[in-house]
Amino acid sequence: MKVIGLMSGTSVDGIDAALTEISGEGYAVSAELIAGKTHPYSEKVRSQILDLCANKPITMAALAELDDAIAHHFIQAIEALNIDLSTVDLIGSHGQTLYHRPPQIGQLGYTQQLGRGDLIAQATSRTTVSNFRVADMAYGGQGAPLVPMIDACLLSQSEQAIAVQNIGGIGNVTYLPPWNKKGTPPATVKGWDTGPGNALIDWAVTKLSAGQSTYDSGGNWASQGQPDQTLIDQWLQQPFFQLEPPKSTGRELFGAQYAEQCWQVAQARGLSEADFLATLTDFTAATIELSYRHFLDQVPTEVLIGGGGGRNQYLMERLQRRLPEAKVGTTDKHKINGEYKEAIAFAILAYWRYHNVPGNLPSVTGADKPCLLGELWQP
Ligand SMILES: Nc1ncnc2c1ncn2[C@@H]1O[C@H](COP(=O)(O)OP(=O)(O)O)[C@@H](O)[C@H]1O
Ligand SMILES: [Mg+2]
Repeated sequence: MKVIGLMSGTSVDGIDAALTEISGEGYAVSAELIAGKTHPYSEKVRSQILDLCANKPITMAALAELDDAIAHHFIQAIEALNIDLSTVDLIGSHGQTLYHRPPQIGQLGYTQQLGRGDLIAQATSRTTVSNFRVADMAYGGQGAPLVPMIDACLLSQSEQAIAVQNIGGIGNVTYLPPWNKKGTPPATVKGWDTGPGNALIDWAVTKLSAGQSTYDSGGNWASQGQPDQTLIDQWLQQPFFQLEPPKSTGRELFGAQYAEQCWQVAQARGLSEADFLATLTDFTAATIELSYRHFLDQVPTEVLIGGGGGRNQYLMERLQRRLPEAKVGTTDKHKINGEYKEAIAFAILAYWRYHNVPGNLPSVTGADKPCLLGELWQP
């Protein structure tokens, strides 16, 4: 079955579109990437999204317009693949997260992704699945991360445990115990959000370059500075890092306000711009290290990176230095394109929804039970 997966994460850098060929039944699936493309947001829509994430008030009318505009960007991302849509069987669209409230004792979680699936189905004449997170949350789950189920099915090794670490705007890990990929993924698969991925780095680069760049290409700027371990230790005191999984987070916690505070403290300590970037980058590596050492019995010998953070060489170096017992590589090694892994994941989640296969992993999200994920829109 040919399925397009569409994903835009907390980086708000653009929409990743992946045309995939998916086959298999139940959890014994395989996915081949046929074409992938990242379609950037317009500056206007990106800044509207970031403003909203930073709690800037908005009218319902403006919100409706933004919802439409995001859907149109997702439709353009499909067009950018430049393929004959009549050959496509299904579309899975994650949409753009504007708000995410993890569940607490006595209160279910809430999450809001914009980019109308109904509009995508109508514009493409293809059956579309969207709104993947809400059902898991209705069963008490975090609604996130959802990708560990796909990691388990695609990347599990029969002999050894591995970790798959996505570094988008936010970071999230999947811990995969040895599994022969028969039946249902074991309940010992774990996964949670580790904390900031690129979000703070992107914020700082945008500020320090006065908007000339939105990310630290290759980590080059940060590599010219020195990380401040005292500051990192201080930042690691944030209660989120000590919280036992299941847990999820977003720009509500690690957004503009948080980054601004980091900048104030760094300035007070006399850090240069490069030192500040080195510190933020190593902080991301430190949060990942802390997560593994606190919440896994053992650091796996292999850590596979996915997401845009894998292209930040300095971040990769810092992470490897912090996890000397592991080999830090990318998922490409196991023939899963790391850059499009999340988009491929939403193609598979759509495939599961279409075939009535539950897509959540309660051991990861904390939901009461496995359930179907996503709303199905027929054109
Ligand atoms: N060449 C690169 N060098 C350094 N960082 C990069 C590079 N390419 C992408 N990134 C980082 O990856 C981010 C996008 O990663 P992505 O996986 O798309 O995250 P998300 O899922 O949050 O959208 C960018 O915002 C940037 O911080
Ligand atoms: Mg992205």
